[in-house]
Amino acid sequence: MKFFVDTADVAEIKLLAASGLLDGVTTNPSLVAKSGRAMHDVIAEICAIVPGPVSAEVAATDYDGMLHEARILRAIAKNVTVKVPLTPDGLRACRHLTNDGAMVNVTLCFSAAQALLAAKAGASFVSPFVGRLDDIGESGMALIADIMTIFRQYPYLKTEVLVASVRHPMHVVEAAKLGAHVATVPPAILRQLFNHPLTDKGLAAFLADWAKAGLKIA
Ligand code: E4P
Repeated sequence: MKFFVDTADVAEIKLLAASGLLDGVTTNPSLVAKSGRAMHDVIAEICAIVPGPVSAEVAATDYDGMLHEARILRAIAKNVTVKVPLTPDGLRACRHLTNDGAMVNVTLCFSAAQALLAAKAGASFVSPFVGRLDDIGESGMALIADIMTIFRQYPYLKTEVLVASVRHPMHVVEAAKLGAHVATVPPAILRQLFNHPLTDKGLAAFLADWAKAGLKIA
């Protein structure tokens, strides 16, 4: 499973990239706004840190506007993935951009039918938002299971399922069990994946025994 980080915070991205575990980055208009920086600057900086796909989302909602913004975003760096919303205009833009050789992430997917449309539009990634479905009392993971089942019936579909709106480590584990290709995870949750109290306890015990015996690796 590939790990993307879901943030526009460059300092966080630098730290996580150093771990060697980062395969890509996703941003959205809210995350870029939160960074307080200009879109061009923040995306350029992220693309220089992470060689994998970096999703940069259009703000236009009409086909021509999306293509105009996509041209600007694609000029920033080769690894920019244009993110478009799952709307009729977004999918039309997706098809055009994919035919032109761009990577496209179709975002705001909340149903299996929508995911199928994104795949048919040639998306490189489709982003189902699991946390936001859980928030309204539906099951985000049931949606991932449905999409994976459908995509497996048609091996020629090359669209990767990018699990988004991840709220806790179990979302990542469940998504991996279902064979989802990518999870995009907020930095705090990515760090939580490392943690287990028995790891801390075991390490402390090993170090205490080592120190008591006065051993050294020379
Ligand atoms: C995905 O690309 C989105 O940026 C993100 O995962 C949305 O997550 P949220 O529902 O926590 O805002």
